[in-house]
Amino acid sequence: MSRLYKHRFKHRFFLTTDHFIHTLRSTVVGSPAKPLSDCRKHRKVFLMTENILITGGAGYVGSHTCQALAAKGFLPVCLDNLINGHQSAVQWGPFVRGDIADTSILDRIFSDYQPKAVIHFAAYAYVGESVEDPAKYYRNNVAGSISLLEAMRRNGCKNIVFSSSCATYGIPERVPIPEDHRQLPINPYGRSKLMIEQIIRDYGSAYGIRYAILRYFNAAGADPQGRIGEDHNPETHLLPILLQTVLGRRHYTEVYGTDYDTPDGTAIRDYIHVSDLASAHILSLKYLAQTAQGLCVNLGTGQGRSVTEVIQAVRQVTGKPVAYRNVGRRPGDPPSLVAKADRACSLLGWKPDIVDIREIVATAWNWHRSKEERT
Ligand SMILES: NC(=O)c1ccc[n+]([C@@H]2O[C@H](COP(=O)([O-])OP(=O)(O)OC[C@H]3O[C@@H](n4cnc5c(N)ncnc54)[C@H](O)[C@@H]3O)[C@@H](O)[C@H]2O)c1
Repeated sequence: MSRLYKHRFKHRFFLTTDHFIHTLRSTVVGSPAKPLSDCRKHRKVFLMTENILITGGAGYVGSHTCQALAAKGFLPVCLDNLINGHQSAVQWGPFVRGDIADTSILDRIFSDYQPKAVIHFAAYAYVGESVEDPAKYYRNNVAGSISLLEAMRRNGCKNIVFSSSCATYGIPERVPIPEDHRQLPINPYGRSKLMIEQIIRDYGSAYGIRYAILRYFNAAGADPQGRIGEDHNPETHLLPILLQTVLGRRHYTEVYGTDYDTPDGTAIRDYIHVSDLASAHILSLKYLAQTAQGLCVNLGTGQGRSVTEVIQAVRQVTGKPVAYRNVGRRPGDPPSLVAKADRACSLLGWKPDIVDIREIVATAWNWHRSKEERT
């Protein structure tokens, strides 16, 4: 048995807080120990905290949410199999390397940390790959989520915040897209997210699981202080691809379609800063603590930006030229995906802070540049 599991939840208050955190950091699988002096600043936070299980917390949105949770006094307990995540991004709480399909790991985490809620990011999220290998997506995303929900039931954890996607809408009939828009996803990735939404609702009605379903539009940007950022491999998102091009990591960026029925002919998306996404998760936890009713909201700015506008913003922020090529439309790419975003405001009191695309680009550029300097 790993040393981690000897420190049962019921025993933790018998250790000094500093010592406990130091022990956690030095015993979780592969997590580097930090000197006690580094951990001391967490002391007050830990004593007043609630533990939250973060699946996929070593990934892009998950790690930024862990950072925001810690800043608000929660202890994010990260479960990630590192298939696409980075251990270096887990900086704000204990890390357990493992899979959401592994029932024994889940039971041990629930027993050791007794999390008040789960924020469920862990998933595969490449649309093209989901078309080529749908089984991989249904197994990991759908079956993995059922494994997690069953562990919640077994262990009496009643609250879940789930990362859903605007991909569940498919090709929209109207834009901006409201939450009650019909959901007709056009690829297995989107269908896997819709299935999980439906399963979570059924678990809500039958077993009293309280849920917040958050449908993200296009997550973008990085921690404004530059400690973590977007680091997918392969990268499929426009902004990091443009920045990799500026940094000479790619010869050019491919622009998919310049003949859409949009003002400049390129596709329009709603870019939402990752720190604003993170804050919506914290507000969702508060909502779940106060309200029995399930929540389902879009997370976007309500403003669309075309590919050309993003390229211009990258030029302005970096002061460098951006090489790109028009390569024609990709099948299944809608011309415009923009959120009707007022429900999150009215139900959660959430409002994105960073809406100027240049500001979003600046935070991403800051992180990409510092990463480049480190490597
Ligand atoms: N990034 C976006 O623009 C966006 C938009 C809409 C929805 N989402 C959803 O938000 C979530 C997070 O997205 P992201 O961009 O941070 O992705 P990401 O790939 O950076 O993070 C996902 C994390 O989950 C981990 N993971 C995957 N399968 C796992 C498993 N079976 N067990 C344990 N860990 C596992 C990966 O290692 C990774 O660290 C995903 O569910 C994604 O579908 C993202």
